[in-house]
Amino acid sequence: MSERKPLMAANWKMHKNRAETREFVEAFIGLEPPLDQVEVVICPPFTSLEAAVSTCEGSGIQVAAQNMHQAQSGAFTGEVSAAMLSDLGVHAVVLGHSERRELFGESDESLSEKVPAALEAGLTPILCVGETEAERSGGKTDEVLANQVRADLANVSGGDLAQIVIAYEPIWAIGTGQTATPEQAQEACGLIRALLAGRSDEGADALRILYGGSMKPENAAELVSLEDVDGGLVGGASLDPEDFAAIASSAASA
Ligand code: 13P
Repeated sequence: MSERKPLMAANWKMHKNRAETREFVEAFIGLEPPLDQVEVVICPPFTSLEAAVSTCEGSGIQVAAQNMHQAQSGAFTGEVSAAMLSDLGVHAVVLGHSERRELFGESDESLSEKVPAALEAGLTPILCVGETEAERSGGKTDEVLANQVRADLANVSGGDLAQIVIAYEPIWAIGTGQTATPEQAQEACGLIRALLAGRSDEGADALRILYGGSMKPENAAELVSLEDVDGGLVGGASLDPEDFAAIASSAASA
């Protein structure tokens, strides 16, 4: 099995202006998180990306956007392209977050175009998948995850899988304080890896799978120690530099 470096990503959603972003990054770096052992990505809103890129420069911390459009340019009011993010010095992009799917009509079809467009621009796509509470209680979790992974990665070759990050985020665990159990997280992440192994054993082995949903300093180490969980996509707890540094450190020691 390949050694997958743990990855901890801070999804700030619609929080933090430029000054707050700089303040966070400076405080976080001051806490000396083990950046040699864990890859850290922060995902601020569009307006704070440039401040994040300049403050993170030279630290090893990477910066990701929270969405992008699949086209290179064009008449798409309110949108930004992968090339525009690259031009800013952004390294990665979160795609298909459940909030975008549920509130803004993000579809599997557009994601199947966004993932290769991100790769082409040199951005690491962090593709989010996950089931609702009703889908889980109806025994549909495996089917939902399989459908999302298949559809969203339909235009990605087996050889490109290693460049992608998948975040398994059960929707019922997001912002609820109700974290998935280690068994639930491992089962879902193991299923995702097994599905992708059908396309490329090597790619599936190298690709990192994150868990997201009420991850906190208290539960991160256990989740990240699971065989198929290689890190986390953290919402609420990533807004505080101390909490996020504690989470990053637990990933390094897991
Ligand atoms: P919380 O960590 O606040 O549950 O959010 C998870 C999430 O949606 C990260 O993308």
